[in-house]
Amino acid sequence: MAIKRSSGKGKSNRSSQGEKQQRNELLQSQATTEEASSSEDSLRPQRLADYIGQKELKTVLEIAITAAKQRGEAMDHLLLYGPPGLGKTTISLILAAEMGVQCKITAAPALERPRDISGVLVNLNPGDVLFIDEIHRLTRITEELLYPAMEDGRLDITVGKGQSAKTRSIPLAPFTLVGATTRIGSLTSPLRDRFGMIQRLQFYEIDELTEIILRTAKVLETDIVTEGAVEIAQRSRGTPRIANRLLKRVRDYTQVKELGTITQATAAEALELFQVDKMGLDWTDRLILTTMIDQFHGGPVGLDAVAAATGEDALTIEDVYEPYLLQIGFIQRTHRGRMVTEKAMEHLGY
Ligand code: ADE
Repeated sequence: MAIKRSSGKGKSNRSSQGEKQQRNELLQSQATTEEASSSEDSLRPQRLADYIGQKELKTVLEIAITAAKQRGEAMDHLLLYGPPGLGKTTISLILAAEMGVQCKITAAPALERPRDISGVLVNLNPGDVLFIDEIHRLTRITEELLYPAMEDGRLDITVGKGQSAKTRSIPLAPFTLVGATTRIGSLTSPLRDRFGMIQRLQFYEIDELTEIILRTAKVLETDIVTEGAVEIAQRSRGTPRIANRLLKRVRDYTQVKELGTITQATAAEALELFQVDKMGLDWTDRLILTTMIDQFHGGPVGLDAVAAATGEDALTIEDVYEPYLLQIGFIQRTHRGRMVTEKAMEHLGY
């Protein structure tokens, strides 16, 4: 596939030997980017056609990919946001596969120094996808290096110190930045504005999770009946990563107990043992809810108070636990704080 090189506006002409060396050092040091390799990766769908759920996002991407391919250009930058485990990395890998380019994966905490992001950017090949996880955590200086890179395909680096400091511009290969975040509200507007597409990932429906579990079971060569997959899906908090994790636990249980095929009964039995209840709540969810009920009369209560009383990190509660509890209507957010709903009280047997 031909990919057009964007006209980098900057020129890196005539620099002194010292400056050159400094610049080279800057560019050589590179934050680690990884290739797909974890066990989760082997379960990921490779193409958009195999991706289950997120229908609207798929349609948007299909159009963007086709248009970019027709023009022979890199696809526009894409910002994905939503709770963890819904497929942000998978989408990024699929995007690269569909465009016929490589996907370099990194995360904001690995890009602390200017030379980290510089190294990553100058090593991109034309059209590559650069995935930056937790993009809301970029340092200001890294973020400011990204602006001209995203907008004009150039890297502005400062060489020299004090009065002799000069800015040099290096043209970059055209690339697609895929930023992922669980907290869109923490992104600065200049960064947010540089993404051509901003897409939210939604929790998955039970039938979509069921399909994902059946697909994963096939990849893992595990026998399962549809009712078994539905039972796991119902306890997966609308999240494919959790669905696949629970499937593996149920598979272990079924194997050790020599039960053969995963049925609805064996899935339920195993997940009760692992303390994942019918709504998918685990020990920490129940601790959060029961603490809010027992110590704060069900709320309204502030996030920090819940965090202090449960010993959980406030950001983890907000990013990981709360979105699903809100989604299933077990807590509500009011201007005076969080409240436990009657539905949650009933579920917990109050
Ligand atoms: N595995 C994890 N997420 C998936 C998805 N959305 N579609 C298919 N398989 C998956």
